[in-house]
This record gives sequence, C-alpha cells and structure tokens, in this order.
Amino acid sequence: MKLSISLLAITTAVASAAGGSVLARASNERRELGGVLICNGANAQGNCQYKKYKLDTCYNVTAPYYKNASTFAPDGDNFYCYPYMMSCGGLCMSPEGCTLGAVSFSFPNKFNLSAIGWDHYISSFECHQS
Ligand SMILES: *[C@@H]1O[C@H](CO)[C@@H](O)[C@H](O)[C@H]1NC(C)=O
Ligand SMILES: *[C@@H]1O[C@H](CO)[C@@H](O)[C@H](O)[C@H]1NC(C)=O
Ligand SMILES: *[C@@H]1O[C@H](CO)[C@@H](O)[C@H](O)[C@H]1NC(C)=O
Repeated sequence: MKLSISLLAITTAVASAAGGSVLARASNERRELGGVLICNGANAQGNCQYKKYKLDTCYNVTAPYYKNASTFAPDGDNFYCYPYMMSCGGLCMSPEGCTLGAVSFSFPNKFNLSAIGWDHYISSFECHQS
C-alpha cells in the first residue's frame, strides 16, 4: 500500500513537472476521458448510471446514487477520480479529509465500496488526468 501511494506521488510529481504545455495541447482529447460507472449496489448491481465526465470538473452525485453508491468504477483510461463526502464547493469538516482518495480503473474496491465503508458517502466527485 505504501509503495503504491509513493508511486502515485512520484507519478503525479513527474506529471506536473512535465509541464502544462503538454497538458494544454492535449486537453481537448483528454476531456473525452472520464467514463465512470456508478451503481447503487456492489458488482454493478441495482440502478446504474454510466456517463463520461469532463476532467477537472466537480459533479454532484444525484439521487438515487447520492450517498448511496457501492460501485464507483472509472474506465481504464488515463484518469482517476476523487470521490468526496460533501457536495461540490462544500466544506470538509473532517480532519482526515473528505475523500476516498484517487480512484482509478485499478482501484481494488471500485466494485464494492462497502468493503471499505464508503457505500454511503459519495456526494460528489472530480476526475483528473493521470
Ligand atoms: C439507495 O439505493 C437503493 C438500492 O440499492 C434504492 O432502493 C434506494 O431508493 C436508494 N435510496 C435513495 C435515498 O436514493
Ligand atoms: C452541488 O451541490 C451544492 C449543494 O447543493 C451546490 O451548492 C453546488 O452549486 C452544486 N454544484 C454543482 C456543480 O452542481
Ligand atoms: C462487499 O463487501 C462487503 C463487506 O466486506 C461484503 O459483506 C459483501 O458481501 C460484498 N458484496 C459483494 C457483492 O461482493
């Protein structure tokens, strides 16, 4: 776990050091990334919604998924999402932060957030290029 976190930190640092120009140039294609499957149940059971979302944009989760999603599964593209406990623009009152952290295609519990106690938390999310 520690290894993957530091790898992510390094990847992120390298990506930011690589600079904004690459990012700006490719931003149009990159905005086509961002497909996420959200379902009430684990293993994509129950009501599901699949959409493509713009990167670097906060989306409020709406009913019936608001604080009620056990599946949060990003596509296997080069992006990750931060699911948040509060709505877009909301204040985080928790000292531990209010996000599950970076969830990408390779996130182990994306098909069962109840396994990590996050099945009744997601109120909003924002995805970023990786
Ligand atoms: C939560 O999800 C369940 C299905 O798992 C659904 O029946 C229920 O209506 C949802 N609740 C809300 C408040 O959206
Ligand atoms: C998300 O919901 C909050 C709280 O209802 C609202 O203030 C905010 O404008 C919404 N933002 C978006 C992007 O929908
Ligand atoms: C999801 O995880 C919970 C907690 O570990 C477990 O009880 C449940 O059976 C799992 N659900 C599925 C569909 O695998």
